[in-house]
Amino acid sequence: MTPGLFSKKSVDELLQANDLDSDKGLDKSLGLVALIALGIGGIIGAGIFVLTGQAAANYAGPSITISFILAAIGCGLCGLCYAEFASLIPIAGSAYTYAYATLGELVAWIVGWDLILEYIFSGATVAVGWSGYMVSLLQDVGIVIPAELANPPFNLPAMFIIALMTILQIIGLRQSTRFNNIIVLVKTLVILLFIFGGLGYINQQNWLPFIPENTGQFGIYGWSGVLRGAGVVFFTYIGFDAISCAAQEARNPQRDMPIAIMSSLLIATILYIAVVLVLTGIVPYTELNVPDPIAVGVNAVGEGLRWLKPIIKIGAIAGMSSVIVVFILGQSRVFYAMAKDGLLPSPFAAVHPQFRTPYISIVVSGVVAMLLAGLLPISVLGELVSIGTLLAFLIVCIAVAVLRRTRPDLPRPFKTPLVPLVPILGALISGLQMVSLPGDTWLRLIIWLAVGLLIYFTYGRQHSTLQQKRIQQTD
Ligand code: ALA
Repeated sequence: MTPGLFSKKSVDELLQANDLDSDKGLDKSLGLVALIALGIGGIIGAGIFVLTGQAAANYAGPSITISFILAAIGCGLCGLCYAEFASLIPIAGSAYTYAYATLGELVAWIVGWDLILEYIFSGATVAVGWSGYMVSLLQDVGIVIPAELANPPFNLPAMFIIALMTILQIIGLRQSTRFNNIIVLVKTLVILLFIFGGLGYINQQNWLPFIPENTGQFGIYGWSGVLRGAGVVFFTYIGFDAISCAAQEARNPQRDMPIAIMSSLLIATILYIAVVLVLTGIVPYTELNVPDPIAVGVNAVGEGLRWLKPIIKIGAIAGMSSVIVVFILGQSRVFYAMAKDGLLPSPFAAVHPQFRTPYISIVVSGVVAMLLAGLLPISVLGELVSIGTLLAFLIVCIAVAVLRRTRPDLPRPFKTPLVPLVPILGALISGLQMVSLPGDTWLRLIIWLAVGLLIYFTYGRQHSTLQQKRIQQTD
């Protein structure tokens, strides 16, 4: 085994470095409300506004509600593991940093590289969804964007929204969180309007049979359809983990991070379940195979709810823009942490003297997301997001259990309950969901990780501050 590949950064060392940095580095301005809003801002977006209808129509019918509950249980188990780490090691970098402290540098690099699939690719995916809703809203008011300007290989609106959100990020964390707070309020209100507006139009016949009979093919209705639906709607929950990337900018991370992670996940779960119950109650699920299911839902019940249609579109557009903010924020903090450790070139760790943001990391994240959003279709982007995120979740669950054994003495402000059961279940569920994804997604993941390893062995390993320290010590 090559020496040093599994060298770990001690938790004490990580915390000390964070303390030394706190005055001149990132802006520690996030309170509990801002953190919860960041969580909701990152979670509720393209998934509920775009994906839900297709999942109900093609796989689960009204029992898509059960799929949402199952996906929430899986994410909840992983969320509990993230919560322990985010309170114990409240440092930019999230899963990357947790892996460095527990499983060593090589695994940390793999996780850091893999997180690009989650954050940058999610940002790009959501921007493509944003573009679809924006083009449709503009069309409603008589402005037609030509199809060749709003589809791959040149999706101009998608690139535009990422550019805008990237500039906002650079200007400052406070500005970004203020924007996010307003957006979260808007999208939550729009969702509540849909839920309460739709309640009176529910036709219980639409819920029957709640679990449509399986067609004979795995995953098309029946219980296997519920499971496949859970795999698809997993995307709607991604984002709660992104707040942990901002732990270094939280005022009281030990107390606030676990609360923010778990409560944003819980709030999103409750809203999602209510939305899908109402949606499948007001329209037969067979009519939901569309890219804007909630708008179609309010349209379908007749005059009574039609006033809500433009409001839903505005809510979706607003909601998706905050998801992009949160994911660019997450990615730039992972790059920042990797550069601090020497695994990426030092400019990635540069903090703007006036704005106190890691501006170079933000620009790189934004530009890569723009290119992906402009060039690639939503389906390829979305599948890579799921596999990349599940791999990060799996490793974080394992890491919690490992650190409990290797460093039981560390003070843990929040403790994942029932260790090792909760981490094992979280890891198992994440692993099972990965296995159920198509073979070509696996191939893309393997190629992605191979490129990452090449960069690690040609650059990161030579420049790693930890390795350099080792070499100095052995000299
Ligand atoms: N959970 C985020 C969304 O649904 C990625 O847009």
